[in-house]
Amino acid sequence: MSARIDEIAPDLYRICLYVPAFDLQFNHFLVRDEEPLLFHTGMRGMFPAMREAVATLIDPASLRWISWSHFEVDECGALNEWLAEAPHATPVCGEVGAMVNIADFANRPPRALKPDEILGTGRHRFRFVPTPHLPHGWDAGVLFEETDRVLLCSDLMHQLGDVEPVTSADVVGRYRQAFETYQRSPVLMDYVPYTENTKRQLANLAALRPRTLAAMHGSTFVGDGAAALIASGEVIRQVTSGSAATV
Ligand SMILES: [Fe+2]
Ligand SMILES: [Fe+2]
Repeated sequence: MSARIDEIAPDLYRICLYVPAFDLQFNHFLVRDEEPLLFHTGMRGMFPAMREAVATLIDPASLRWISWSHFEVDECGALNEWLAEAPHATPVCGEVGAMVNIADFANRPPRALKPDEILGTGRHRFRFVPTPHLPHGWDAGVLFEETDRVLLCSDLMHQLGDVEPVTSADVVGRYRQAFETYQRSPVLMDYVPYTENTKRQLANLAALRPRTLAAMHGSTFVGDGAAALIASGEVIRQVTSGSAATV
């Protein structure tokens, strides 16, 4: 397994591992800054490939912050491997995740971010926005890089296939296609719940006016991130309810 690495925004690198069995890319984002940040650790089985990829950008031992959206193996499965590799690295996530998962799971205590708290890495500032149950998980949240307006958006804008690193194409259409494919699966269905909070949370993220949506699965989207986020809410509503699959 070898990674493809692309700089998708200043100092922000997308490290992509494509898994043919799932026809799915797993993207991890490294911020090369005074205090380097890795967003998404990858699974434990991906650690050797990820370590090799990160080592082409920074000394892996110099990692200072390790973050993710919600507690799942692609988000933070290799957290302890990274903590062993990087002696000064600290896990950083929202207060819920820190309390219910990471304080026990991680081999070092986490930094717990409050809503809208800023994580500074040097030249870059990341705002933490909790998004409970969006895309899924009580502990879910996202980081927003304020200078270049990059939203590290986890499973939002999920796309299937070994797609290009960056696109300005119809990412919402691709999201609908991926979501519909999962909804037809007896195992993967109900991937993202639709609740009365879903559109409000997406509107909160849209209000940040992101220019770049750094998706965990699929291409990074560059364009009107706010419009894409708002439109994705209707996709979630329609696909989960089984209504109006094509609008
Ligand atoms: Fe997820
Ligand atoms: Fe994911």
